[in-house]
Amino acid sequence: MTDIIKQNMDDNLQHDKYFSDHDYDGIKELNNPSPYWVLLLFLGTIGFSLFYAVRYFGYPDNGMDQYSEYNKQMAIAGKQANQNPSEQAGVFVMDKAQMDAGAKLFTEKGCIACHGAKGEGNAIGPNMTDKFWINGCKPTDLQRVITDGIPAKGMAPYKSMMTEGQIKSVIAYILGTLVGSNPPNAKAPQGVECK
Ligand code: HEC
Repeated sequence: MTDIIKQNMDDNLQHDKYFSDHDYDGIKELNNPSPYWVLLLFLGTIGFSLFYAVRYFGYPDNGMDQYSEYNKQMAIAGKQANQNPSEQAGVFVMDKAQMDAGAKLFTEKGCIACHGAKGEGNAIGPNMTDKFWINGCKPTDLQRVITDGIPAKGMAPYKSMMTEGQIKSVIAYILGTLVGSNPPNAKAPQGVECK
């Protein structure tokens, strides 16, 4: 007798262990909770989605949503398009303002020490007033030489001392004013003649 009761109690205990007390017209729900790590992961995704929604969609004017990002990029592009053309890569403007600015820089930045006050050249640096160039004929060749220098041959790099715009002004001065100016005491041509 006691054995039967005990058996019954055991069955009831087992029953509680495997079934929840949800009962829909006799259909029972198994008591089978997810492991805690799955639960934590789930709660984590909810937390992340809240953070994401606030930060990237809606929070008023924090500048992180796609419309603000778009407007920012468009503003940058607009600025670049309106920039002084001589600041744009590969574009060289040879007007008087550029040449005057370049003339000043040619003195201020010490180019005259090695290339002469009138660009005539001296014992150190080559003549800038003839059509002969050692390192190439194109304005971009001059830009490369002035920017990176040729330290092995005594030409210093100016990239940390002049902006790209200043370097282009000085090139405008060299090619627009110095070349063909025939100063006295000009140093003999070096390099190849450029047409
Ligand atoms: C310390 C002396 C020195 C100073 C300062 C100097 N240069 Fe030079 N530069 C040289 C020498 C030397 C060369 C020749 C390099 C070579 O043989 O390739 C040269 C070459 C050049 C060339 C290329 C010439 C060619 O025929 O290919 C240009 C352009 C030039 N310099 C511009 C400048 C400008 C602009 C400045 C000032 C911002 C300047 N240099 C300052 C010494 C100098």
